[in-house]
Amino acid sequence: MEKVIAVLPGDGIGPEITDQAVKALKAIEKKFGHKFTFVYGIIGASAIDLCGDPYPTETHNLCLNSDAILFGAIGDPKYDNNPAAKVRPEQGLLKMRKELGLYANIRPVEIYESLIERSPLKEEKIRGVDLVVVRELTGGIYFGEPRGRDDNGNRAFDTSLYTSLEVERIADVAFRLAQTRKNHVTLVDKANVLETSRLWREVVSRVHKKSYSRVALDYLFVDNAAMQLVTDPTKFDVILTENMFGDILSDEASVLTGSIGLLPSASYGLKTPLFEPIHGSYPQAAGKNIANPLATVLSSAMLLGDGLGLREEASLLKKCCKKIIDERFFTPDLCGELPPRTTSEVGDRISAEILS
Ligand code: IPM
Ligand code: MN
Repeated sequence: MEKVIAVLPGDGIGPEITDQAVKALKAIEKKFGHKFTFVYGIIGASAIDLCGDPYPTETHNLCLNSDAILFGAIGDPKYDNNPAAKVRPEQGLLKMRKELGLYANIRPVEIYESLIERSPLKEEKIRGVDLVVVRELTGGIYFGEPRGRDDNGNRAFDTSLYTSLEVERIADVAFRLAQTRKNHVTLVDKANVLETSRLWREVVSRVHKKSYSRVALDYLFVDNAAMQLVTDPTKFDVILTENMFGDILSDEASVLTGSIGLLPSASYGLKTPLFEPIHGSYPQAAGKNIANPLATVLSSAMLLGDGLGLREEASLLKKCCKKIIDERFFTPDLCGELPPRTTSEVGDRISAEILS
């Protein structure tokens, strides 16, 4: 099969971790006799440095003309500490998601047996956790207008905005996904306070009644959900939620696994699907060859399976990742007392395993 994959390494550790995922994809290509063409684009702080735009038109066109996008990370401390900056790296990622219409962000949280001891929660709480956050990705307070400042810069405002249609289409994704899993959706919102959340409840229960009444549906307020994610994480199957709550809850959920460096994600919608780790650009580690590439390699497994429909290839890649996790071939975030492995050693090991 011939496929074009856009690779957008981005900032911080982005280039190092995407290199490892590309290595793994090349090993899969070789093993299965496919032809993958990798085309590289710029995004984020590195794109601002080069051309002043965090998501240049050339990058957008590259994405439009590809079958799938592999993305590393975005963000640079020089912007984090400068609230007055007019152009910010994160705008690149948000613009890409919006312009490609990628409204459905899927963030699976899986537990690896050999990492249970690394979780900050007790073993008996963690065993059996298997959940997915379905995060709405192109609406809500991230994009709503008006936003800005008035009163000479002394008053700031953002707008959380959702339409029934936006809620309906993401609800569909969540229910369909639940049908392939444990048949249970939890809608997380703040319907006791927010009008947008009351719209979510209304629309989600309507979609449920109409087309998915066999799926169990329950509702949780986001504060309560944040608590139950750590007190009772096995109760969740599919967590359906809006953009901002999904951002926060998926970081929280990721620590259950023992490292945020393990969580992949996929975003689908109207145009080319995007695959990226949920973690950030970890600037302190940039260029040091110490970052954990597993979340990105696992994202490339989602790219193969869900993005390109190459199920066998995806499952082999996942199996190889799992094998090296079981062998505790770990970067410093996970290695504890064991000898630390470098980012590229982990990548080499995965591709060797694929080709073995
Ligand atoms: C994520 C990130 C982004 C988000 C940032 C970098 C804009 O935190 O993908 O979770 O908030 O969506
Ligand atoms: Mn986030």
